Amino acid sequence: MSNEIYECDVPLEDYTEGIVATKEEIAEMCKRLGERISNDYKGEPLILICVLKGGFMFMSDLSKNISIPVEMDFIAVSSYGASTKSSGVVRLVKDTDTPVTGKHVLIVEDIIDTGLTLSYLKNLFSTRNPLSVKVCTAFDKPDRRKVEVDVEYSGIVIPDEYVVGYGLDYNGLFRNLPDLRILKKSVYVK
Ligand code: IMP
Ligand code: MG
Repeated sequence: MSNEIYECDVPLEDYTEGIVATKEEIAEMCKRLGERISNDYKGEPLILICVLKGGFMFMSDLSKNISIPVEMDFIAVSSYGASTKSSGVVRLVKDTDTPVTGKHVLIVEDIIDTGLTLSYLKNLFSTRNPLSVKVCTAFDKPDRRKVEVDVEYSGIVIPDEYVVGYGLDYNGLFRNLPDLRILKKSVYVK
């Protein structure tokens, strides 16, 4: 087996306990944020920047709820490795290739935890002469913030738990769960 935490006959849900956000709550959140973004940026050049890998599912659902023309690009950063705690060092793994000069940038994130990733990304895009740089996150763990970042579009505020599903992983797994669940501590506390 390529990933040592995974046993192929155990359902994914059995590694989790407690649903933090259901499929229905997530769908409603995407609709609500998509409508706000469509109103706020009407008539303006907008580019959505998805933060890979965790942001892919939210980018897909959010963008389908945006009714104005938008460009999309993808950036990949890494700060965790196989851990549930941020290393604090943000590494750029893949940059965007669409110019953002003269456009409004909206960074689309899965979750904000310490805030380190977002403050790094906000600074990075601010150097590229955009009209503005704002943030849209599906989930927010405000209790864990280490640096203050303004979050203009926040989906669902969640408690300080390590969560998986809806794009979020532990050690590369669980991204395909359609809802947001708490990962059982026994999976990562040995
Ligand atoms: P931050 O830099 O500490 O704000 O962390 C941001 C990134 O860490 C997110 O984009 C996620 O990829 C990851 N992350 C933070 N909390 C969790 C969690 O509870 N589950 C899975 N990934 C998380
Ligand atoms: Mg991640």
